[in-house]
Amino acid sequence: MVVVEVPVIEAHGLRKQYGDFVAVDDVSFSVNEGEVFGFLGPNGAGKTTLMKMIQCVSPKTGGKLEVFGMDVDTHPREIKKLMGVVPQDSNLDPDFSVYANLMVYSRYFNIPHADAKAMTEELLDFVQLKEKKDTIIEYLSGGMKRRLVLARGLINKPRLIILDEPTIGLDPQARHLIWDKLKSLRAQGITVVLTTHYLDEASQLCDRLVIMNQSKILVEGKPDDLIKKYIGTDIVEVEENPAAIKCLEREGTKYEVVRGMIQIYTNHPREMTAALLSNCDLGKITARSATLEDVFLKLTGRKLRE
Ligand SMILES: Nc1ncnc2c1ncn2[C@@H]1O[C@H](COP(=O)(O)OP(=O)(O)O)[C@@H](O)[C@H]1O
Ligand SMILES: [Mg+2]
Repeated sequence: MVVVEVPVIEAHGLRKQYGDFVAVDDVSFSVNEGEVFGFLGPNGAGKTTLMKMIQCVSPKTGGKLEVFGMDVDTHPREIKKLMGVVPQDSNLDPDFSVYANLMVYSRYFNIPHADAKAMTEELLDFVQLKEKKDTIIEYLSGGMKRRLVLARGLINKPRLIILDEPTIGLDPQARHLIWDKLKSLRAQGITVVLTTHYLDEASQLCDRLVIMNQSKILVEGKPDDLIKKYIGTDIVEVEENPAAIKCLEREGTKYEVVRGMIQIYTNHPREMTAALLSNCDLGKITARSATLEDVFLKLTGRKLRE
């Protein structure tokens, strides 16, 4: 028997236009079952717009988009049943307790009361909010709110969860807690799709990711592969100065000048640094691991956070 694996999400030439403005422009990708797939990009890249189309809450204006093999235009109800959502804005009901927020949400899925109660207890345990069960939303920390929204997104036992900036504005400790939860979901075989503009988050969590900029996907791949393909493992850096450039030219060493720094991409930082120190008078020289930020900078000439 041949098992044909259907991607959990498949987009082809996907587009979203608001009037004349194209927010998502001819985007194609597919997300496989059980992977953590990331959409990395600066503010305004089109990530949220894309997530909303996948969530069937904002209709596409062109191209193809299927979730669990179903068209988002024709089968939104069926898709929504199988999917959990963590929106960019936490949108919890401020007047209700932690517990009530989950119970109220369970009604959207017509989950029987007894099941909803059991599920709510289980999820509060999972996101470590048991002691906050009766607390009003207003008195939760940012990290607690984010964890509660994650729990809420899991109430219908989704096979796919979509998280839009799950850790935005959280301190490192709170972010790590969310990361742990996402890793545990992935271990349970749940497909995780997330957006982020945090590079370390994307590198740590994502099996595969795309980098978006100005409504388009620039590149797609595994984080390490992208770094190796576009940069190399490391970057040797020297402050820009004419003597250094002259020497690099003479040595035939390839370099880029990025924001006042001469950068040499390499897989052999020690050898490169040693050779440069003995052949050129460069002043202060540093070597560091290449990151996705370097990939973005190389592709766009801009930093991701701008
Ligand atoms: N409802 C809307 N009407 C018009 N423009 C919008 C709307 N929603 C988003 N946009 C624009 O689309 C672009 C992408 O926004 P968004 O998807 O929120 O980006 P990101 O989530 O990557 O920060 C932005 O320029 C934004 O202003
Ligand atoms: Mg967004």
